[in-house]
Amino acid sequence: MELKKITLRYEEYASLADLSPADRDLINHAIQASEKTYSPYSSFRVGATVRLSCGNIVTGNNQENAAYPSGLCAERVALFYAQSQFPESAVESIAIYASTDDFKMEKPVTPCGACRQVMAEYEFRHQCKARIIMANDNGQVQIVNGIENLLPLAFYLEELKKGSFKKPTEYNRRNITDEI
Ligand code: THU
Repeated sequence: MELKKITLRYEEYASLADLSPADRDLINHAIQASEKTYSPYSSFRVGATVRLSCGNIVTGNNQENAAYPSGLCAERVALFYAQSQFPESAVESIAIYASTDDFKMEKPVTPCGACRQVMAEYEFRHQCKARIIMANDNGQVQIVNGIENLLPLAFYLEELKKGSFKKPTEYNRRNITDEI
């Protein structure tokens, strides 16, 4: 037996003011999206913004349902819409913001397991790591570069089929422009 270790890395910021203008802009879009959720059951308002390699920005928010599992998280609403509209474009960044009137959030919101798996799929599809920017209403922000920092040992297509698929560690990070 060999014991192996995995190291996860994330950046932590105490305030939105410490972020680049591009990241702040993405969070501001997520804040706006979080104001339009349909979340009568949890009262948890989540907004997500996807920045694509083509330059487009797509937002989504959580949509709940009386049949609870029929609802969908903000991240997947935004990611599925983005990929349905711009299938050729890689997901460069995704910002997630959450707030609730029920309690004070101690930490930035982190995506659920199913949303992490969807992020892994699109990184794999476009061979491009995504920056995942997680925020809350205290202004705290955590950022990871690449889903492997939130979902180590993820399940990928290469597990299903034999082929010449690149492993996530071989992705080329695309340059994220800071033009905003
Ligand atoms: N939710 C999201 O939309 N994204 C997350 O990252 C965490 C949870 C939603 C799902 C549900 O509508 C509510 O928050 C409570 O789980």
